[in-house]
Amino acid sequence: MTIQTVLRMGEPCLLAKASPVVQFNTPELNLLIQDLEDTMHHLNGAGIAAPQIGVSLQVVIFGQKSASAHKNPRYPDADVVPYTVLINPTLTPMGLEVEDGWEGCLSVPSMRGIVPRYTRLHYAGFDQYGNAIDRIVSGFHARVVQHECDHLDGILYPMRIKDLKDFGFTDVFFPNQDIQDD
Ligand code: NI
Repeated sequence: MTIQTVLRMGEPCLLAKASPVVQFNTPELNLLIQDLEDTMHHLNGAGIAAPQIGVSLQVVIFGQKSASAHKNPRYPDADVVPYTVLINPTLTPMGLEVEDGWEGCLSVPSMRGIVPRYTRLHYAGFDQYGNAIDRIVSGFHARVVQHECDHLDGILYPMRIKDLKDFGFTDVFFPNQDIQDD
């Protein structure tokens, strides 16, 4: 079990375009995924991308392993998203509908912002063994995938906020809620 340090906004690695994975199910890739999982769980993240721990590869993980698992304390109202390892992803919006929602990021600790995301999304890619993943999703699941895959293009969610009045500290926006200070 290795909890890695999550890079914070300002680190060049977070602004780089990540490279595709060329070989699946290697010891190096499996170790990277274990580190991502350990780090995400330790910090109660909804997801994490490899560049956030300093590895510029197209690997993201998100969701929760058990469907009956308690909901993420950082996103208590969100639908449960199945645990997914997604490699070399391609995202295609289904329609033009966009919805606003609150987001946070382990690389932007203690802050939240309102970000527009496509409501419905088709995404495809591979798991760590090279098996194809192909899904159509909506709502929070679609939001999480768009947020995590943005990391692979060097985009952090504050760059997508339309009005910076909608960006601020978690405990200021939500003073009476026990939202984890990440
Ligand atoms: Ni993030």
